[in-house]
Amino acid sequence: MPSADNPPPSGSAKAWGGVFREPTDRRVEAFSESVSFDRRLADEDIDGSIAHARMLASCGLIAVHEADAIAHALEEIRAEIADGRFEFTAAKEDIHLHIESALTARLGDTGRKLHTARSRNDQVATDLRLHCRRAIDRLDRGLLELQRAFLGFAIREQGLVIPGYTHLRRAQPVLASHQLLGWCEKFDRDRQRLGDCRRRTNILPLGSGALAGTSLGIDREHVRAALGFEALAANSLDGASDRDFVCELAFVISLTAVHLSQWAEEWILYSTEEFGFLRLPEGFCTGSSIMPQKINPDVLELVRGKSARAIGNVQSLLVLLKGLPTAYNRDLQEDKEAIFDSIDTLEAMLGVAAPLVAGTAFDRGRLEATIERGHLDATSLMEALIAAGVPQRTAHETVGRLVRHAMARGVALADLTDEECGREYVGWTPSLRGALGASRAVERMASFGSTAPARVAEQIAVWQRRLA
Ligand code: ARG
Repeated sequence: MPSADNPPPSGSAKAWGGVFREPTDRRVEAFSESVSFDRRLADEDIDGSIAHARMLASCGLIAVHEADAIAHALEEIRAEIADGRFEFTAAKEDIHLHIESALTARLGDTGRKLHTARSRNDQVATDLRLHCRRAIDRLDRGLLELQRAFLGFAIREQGLVIPGYTHLRRAQPVLASHQLLGWCEKFDRDRQRLGDCRRRTNILPLGSGALAGTSLGIDREHVRAALGFEALAANSLDGASDRDFVCELAFVISLTAVHLSQWAEEWILYSTEEFGFLRLPEGFCTGSSIMPQKINPDVLELVRGKSARAIGNVQSLLVLLKGLPTAYNRDLQEDKEAIFDSIDTLEAMLGVAAPLVAGTAFDRGRLEATIERGHLDATSLMEALIAAGVPQRTAHETVGRLVRHAMARGVALADLTDEECGREYVGWTPSLRGALGASRAVERMASFGSTAPARVAEQIAVWQRRLA
């Protein structure tokens, strides 16, 4: 029954309407449309269509002047969409049909030739690959900026010793720069994964047709070169339906988001009254509507919180694919919102992370005043005993007993007298004191990859070259 909720059908102006005797139900149009979200593929769709039209002309499947007219009209349509003058309607399903019907409205039969040797299946796969490739390049730049921010912070804080933690208990002293460069390593692996994913994304499916390829004499290589793809999908069934690259990108994004979440959690802790290590830039904090004194780390909390969506999207995509038989199934339309959301979420996170890092400082006074708490130099002393010939297990036991003495007296290891130390270790000499104190402990950690200032300075130089 037509009603306000269910207006009469929109008539059969469908691109695929020929075989139908009944118009599409409006409820089906509303249910199956994707233009509300895939309009984001407009640029890629137009780029792909222009390359396709030029190829058709070069192969004699349409005239060169027709390809020119198509390219010109598609650029007009691109401008209309960009300025918000373009009208979208659920009746036209998706962005591909919108653009094609706008083209046909302008050019008539010439516009009706664009879809020669093409299906929406290979078309949408091409558009999405272009879209993901561009997103990968933007995300890579965002990660580079973030790495630069961490490197800048590492350079500003050279020489500052902070407590290193395991199990969130004080463990050994480290240079603040060393810890900051640790984030550069994680984000570098994320960039490598993006690069790997980009190679598998950058394969051209156009020419796969709906599933079986085409009988028309096309030149896929022409389109590949025009759109900057690395290779051609070699199996039309797989080419038109492969979405592995979407899952892979969603995963790479989710792991990057997890790294950002770990970082956010750490800095939330480090900037608490209780730790007091870090001062966050006030422009990246927000207040409370009831407690006037509050300066909250909401930006970091949202970075941590938004990682959940990125993780959830990987799950959605894998579940979406798991039941699909060979070739295109309409389920695949559901891939877009998940991957768009992952891309948007990570871009937003990176957009605030880099400036937040650039504006953050350590509270040096507070760190210096508290660095000798927690017997952070115990491992350093144990290694000094090992170097003097004590078996590791004995050295561990001996230092453990010294720590117990120091704890009982409420002092640092360096405050124990030579006599006290001599009672636990007969070979004690005052020279072993060279292993004590946080700064000296840090300096002695000089093997490759360790936290000694000379080693960290080398790594800073390496990163300066790599991120230049
Ligand atoms: N909107 C569709 C999608 O995103 C385009 C492909 C539709 N193909 C089809 N045979 N209905 O997957």
